[in-house]
Amino acid sequence: MKHKIVIKGIAAVLCAACCSFGVAAQPIQEDVILYPEHEQIRQEIQQLEQLEQWGVQQQEATRLHLQLSEKQWGSLVQNTAPPVWLSFLQLPYGKSELLERYIQQWEQTPEWTAEEIVTWVNANLDLPFYEQTVMAENPNSLTVLVNKYSALGAEFEPELVKMDAAYTTVPNAKMQPVAYEAFVKMAEAASQDGFRLYSVSAYRSYQTQKRLYQTYVATDGLELAESYSARPGYSEHQTGLSVDINTADFYSNFQNTDTYRWLRENSWKYGFILRYPEGKERITGYQFEPWHYRYVGVEIAQTCEEQGLTYEEYLARQVPPQTDFLQNTSTPISGQLLWLDHQWYAPCVMLARSVGIAAGVRSDGGVLLFSENQRVELHPYLLPVVDGVPYPRKHTELWYQGELYVPVTDFLKQFEIPYQQVDNIIYIQEHQSTNEILTSLYHYLKNASIEELMALFPTQIPISSESWIAPVFDPVKWLSAKLYD
Ligand code: DAL
Ligand code: ZN
Repeated sequence: MKHKIVIKGIAAVLCAACCSFGVAAQPIQEDVILYPEHEQIRQEIQQLEQLEQWGVQQQEATRLHLQLSEKQWGSLVQNTAPPVWLSFLQLPYGKSELLERYIQQWEQTPEWTAEEIVTWVNANLDLPFYEQTVMAENPNSLTVLVNKYSALGAEFEPELVKMDAAYTTVPNAKMQPVAYEAFVKMAEAASQDGFRLYSVSAYRSYQTQKRLYQTYVATDGLELAESYSARPGYSEHQTGLSVDINTADFYSNFQNTDTYRWLRENSWKYGFILRYPEGKERITGYQFEPWHYRYVGVEIAQTCEEQGLTYEEYLARQVPPQTDFLQNTSTPISGQLLWLDHQWYAPCVMLARSVGIAAGVRSDGGVLLFSENQRVELHPYLLPVVDGVPYPRKHTELWYQGELYVPVTDFLKQFEIPYQQVDNIIYIQEHQSTNEILTSLYHYLKNASIEELMALFPTQIPISSESWIAPVFDPVKWLSAKLYD
């Protein structure tokens, strides 16, 4: 007999209003038990299972269910075969809000892979340059993206440090300190190998860029000038993280030099990427500039180098930060979340553990929960038993794949655990008494006799005292737990 117990609270997990005494639960799939009135949930589970047959894992299906509009979700689950666009959203960096644009791009370039289509659209490359630009969110970040879609604006000035004359031909040249330090290291390493690296242009203010850009437009005309010069406010040089090395002149054929070859082999080791490579002009928006390097840090530089990605492509493939269910708890959460009927469902025991509530699984799959003032037993097919008395079923618990799922917010309400819900995110807050309850309960259970335990759980199921285990509990961590992002 195995009983896992975690500690704290108790609860009845009461939720929406349905169910009454005597309603018999029915299995719909082999291992799903639902109550007849939960037609909506029944349908949604069937839809999740259809997606699973198409190779969409449960967690991913839940993400889609949550992110797609009702119309999009409807059109997905009404298909008899997986639609092409499903493969776009199955990429970890696929974004449902860009689905229409992915589809448009796919209609134009049906021969492209899903990766190519999604990367392209994520980088906004389906939109004309400079048409819908945004201000860079964190202009001071070492990873800021500055290009023909993402601007720094006229006001931005980074923290700067003056470059030593040994590393530049320009008086009073400046860079951001971190980038400068990396540049010096790189120049020193190059020098060991017999190559001299020096900057011919590093930080450029908005005003400097404006003068340059205007001169180029006057000389070469708008179209040509824009293929090599950024509009003021859109130049990476304004970040202080970029540096033109040894030349900035197309006629010098820097790409044919050994110094260039050294840079291509080694710059990533110092955190610099070749920012405007050959063959990627349509992505970066600029002609090949063999001299222009951008500091992004070693890790990103290495990835770009290994995968042959421009910085645009690298960023377009980043997975948006996603907080898994209560990932801040000290216990790794193994259960799955389900988004059903506009509610989060979580495996009951996992949820209980996460918020420090005592929970035990019985050998018949039933779940025992308890806190200082309640004891609740949940059984497949039976009404919940609260403090030994069958309780009119008010909640929509769900037995799915051998586990009891409960609606998260109802569960938290029942246990009076403070939480906040903002859209689809649930923030769980501090529950002051938890630690004390846990401690006293644990001590009690550890020392209780079989008879006492039987009295505590008069459910005919023998429970041995050794089967109670302490919760893995770290108040600092779980207090900041966050459900979904
Ligand atoms: N030459 C680069 C693209 C700039 O003007 O920032
Ligand atoms: Zn440059």
